Amino acid sequence: MKALVIGNGGREHTLAWCLLQSADVTEVVCIPGNGGTATLPQCRNLAMTLDDFQGIARFALVNNFTLVVVGPEQPLAAGITDYLQGQGLKVFGPNQAGAQIEASKAWSKAFMVEAGIPTARAEVFTDLNPALAYVEQRGTPIVIKADGLAAGKGVTVATTLNDAIQALKAAFSGKFGVAGQTVVVEDVLLGQEASVLAVTDGTTIRPLLPAQDHKAIGEGDTGPNTGGMGAYAPTPVVTPEIMTQVQRQVLEPAIATLGHRGIHYCGILYAGLMISPEGVPNVVEFNCRFGDPETQAVLPLLETPLHQVMLACIEGRLADFPPLQWKPGAAACVVVAAEGYPDKYPKGMEIFGLAEAAATDALVFQAGTRRQGNAIVSDGGRVLGVTGLGDSFKAAIANAYTAVDHICFENMYYRRDIGYRVMG
Ligand code: AMP
Ligand code: GLY
Repeated sequence: MKALVIGNGGREHTLAWCLLQSADVTEVVCIPGNGGTATLPQCRNLAMTLDDFQGIARFALVNNFTLVVVGPEQPLAAGITDYLQGQGLKVFGPNQAGAQIEASKAWSKAFMVEAGIPTARAEVFTDLNPALAYVEQRGTPIVIKADGLAAGKGVTVATTLNDAIQALKAAFSGKFGVAGQTVVVEDVLLGQEASVLAVTDGTTIRPLLPAQDHKAIGEGDTGPNTGGMGAYAPTPVVTPEIMTQVQRQVLEPAIATLGHRGIHYCGILYAGLMISPEGVPNVVEFNCRFGDPETQAVLPLLETPLHQVMLACIEGRLADFPPLQWKPGAAACVVVAAEGYPDKYPKGMEIFGLAEAAATDALVFQAGTRRQGNAIVSDGGRVLGVTGLGDSFKAAIANAYTAVDHICFENMYYRRDIGYRVMG
């Protein structure tokens, strides 16, 4: 079979690579793809914009691409699944109604309350003054979230009243466009963050291996948040007992409540959790897609052919599908970025040492890159995700850094402490 992967990040390179691990998948086309998907054997890129649903459908139908895997949240929130499904294609990724679980934090919060899912207490505001009054009464620390998709930049964890006020004023002054016209103000959750991505056909839901992501740019988890600077799996912070709670208190109620709301949700449901010191898996947010870079750490451990899992979801057969098989051991992904990210950063730097890095035991996934002649040049803030595998976290992390040592480009930046929590 042939598969279409929508998106151009490290996640999408990983999805394309993972699909092609099975001999049943003969070709992957990435729209628009990156330097990694341009050079991956049996894979090529197609330059199309992600809002060209008609063009994408026409290409898939004419060329017999039966499976479409949507990577990023924006096209899902814009209804790409509804359109492509309407054209008879098999799409892995929720419809527009389901994507609200990520696309609107106010929607998602009301949904969690209805489903009885453990989460932080929150209030929703559409005007500045009542929001200011609430924050003053509630006190700090407090979390201010723009409602809509803001590429991970719409959240402020405010430790002082002044920070909270500035964040509210910024959101209501239009800093995040329409995304910030509604603001969710919520209590701070304490604990360790973890990502549980689950596959679902709308009725049955099954978790993948739990992962942890380093969101902050700086070592020791300091500095501003990014899309993610590294990830590892399976994280021991989600113990089997906690995973059972996640299944019963988060994943199953979520899918049941989506059903009650008349939403048929097929694809990935990503629970961003804060595991409290008492072991309660509070939900910080839901995402409607694979995580980036969690995917780069989780999928290399998957033994079951990915397209089979996806087709079982699309065809409503997940309950009858055999348990997912995983490789033993651990995986760790180190994100290599351009200095300056998550703010302003240069692009167009030639990347050296990719072949040498790939010749080690590690997997080199490309993110913000493009092919330029015979060279690969940087084209984004997060440039590469280098995944090491091993019997232990220590070995996996060492393998990732050994590969990173072969890579160089101007203004290259990466954290040297990925996985420090699981190194002991
Ligand atoms: P979100 O986009 O909702 O995932 O928020 C981005 C990041 O902000 C999360 O990954 C957390 O690190 C942090 N965050 C969001 N909400 C909370 C909360 N209620 N308590 C503590 N940290 C939070
Ligand atoms: N790594 C966080 C995310 O994908 O949203």
